[in-house]
Amino acid sequence: MSLTFPELNHGSDLTRLLSQSNRGGDALVHAVHSIADATFTWDYAKGARPGLGKLYEKAKVTQWNATTDLPWDTDVDQEKLAAASLQQFSGAMTADGLDGTPFARWGDKEWIRFAIESENWTLSQFLHGEQGALVCTAKLAETVPWIDAKLFASTQVMDEARHVEVFGRYLDAKLSGHYPVNPHLGALLDDIIADRRWDMTYLGMQVMVEGLALAAFGLMRATTTEPLLEQLLRYVMADEARHVAFGVLSLKELYAGLSGPEVRERQEFAYEAAIRMRDRFLQQEVWDRLGISAADAATFLEQDPLRPMFTVSLFSKIVPNLKKLGLLDAGDGWLRQRFGEIGALQFEDWDDGSGELGTSPE
Ligand SMILES: [Fe+2]
Ligand SMILES: [Fe+2]
Repeated sequence: MSLTFPELNHGSDLTRLLSQSNRGGDALVHAVHSIADATFTWDYAKGARPGLGKLYEKAKVTQWNATTDLPWDTDVDQEKLAAASLQQFSGAMTADGLDGTPFARWGDKEWIRFAIESENWTLSQFLHGEQGALVCTAKLAETVPWIDAKLFASTQVMDEARHVEVFGRYLDAKLSGHYPVNPHLGALLDDIIADRRWDMTYLGMQVMVEGLALAAFGLMRATTTEPLLEQLLRYVMADEARHVAFGVLSLKELYAGLSGPEVRERQEFAYEAAIRMRDRFLQQEVWDRLGISAADAATFLEQDPLRPMFTVSLFSKIVPNLKKLGLLDAGDGWLRQRFGEIGALQFEDWDDGSGELGTSPE
């Protein structure tokens, strides 16, 4: 697939983003101050929102057990798998543009080490992101004023617990090291959980970060040849598609009744989150561990064929859902204009994949 994104070329911006380090140091606990109303509803009449009701039923019958439903006895040889994937992407690793950087001197040994560290980093960020989802959906269950949404959100908390469990276990049992949360991912999660308006947590987590998760998991699933990881991602993605549907169904109703300035605020929030997700997850902790400078890493990233693939995957998940929410065209069409400028409108009518996964509530 060849799609172009003129805004993908960031130059020195990449170097700046790669230079930002983790704020938390070695602390094992990170607190985020959040003021939001915990909301009770005495209206227990289920069925007011049939879409959410169906999704709740689906969630109850599609629970799976991370301990017994996955083939944990699969033997995973991370080095051998890294060597095989190296063959697949070897063209990109020898690009002329890497002359004068340490990459020009790298042989198979260094590229394999990079692939291994990169996988450790990626799965670690999946783990941290899953905990972010667990915390955000616990907040949703607490703050959303509709009983149907509280019930579904509770199933999602359990789903996210299972996701934390599987990524943690895969890292411990099959891979070769953990990484701390990337500062840009951490900052995004902090902003989403800290907002006092419950719909912002919904929009940030259910539509934007869940869209990011579907994009990243989908790319990994398409490229891995490891059967346990493939199956694990398939199970997790089926849950995530349901979670995105939960966000879209809930917010569609709410956003139909917002004022112009309220809509614009949501549009700006969504756009900023999209740009942050597109640009900032650059594996800076991997480069640090390998002794590569931010400037050299930026040179590599500008040519990395996986980055445009990720961008396509990301926008094809989030733009259709923002359209379904009415946010793309609401008000004076501010969001349509912005996405048009970065070439992302071509995805507005794409299927986000939830139907294909058999989890569509329709
Ligand atoms: Fe999840
Ligand atoms: Fe999720």
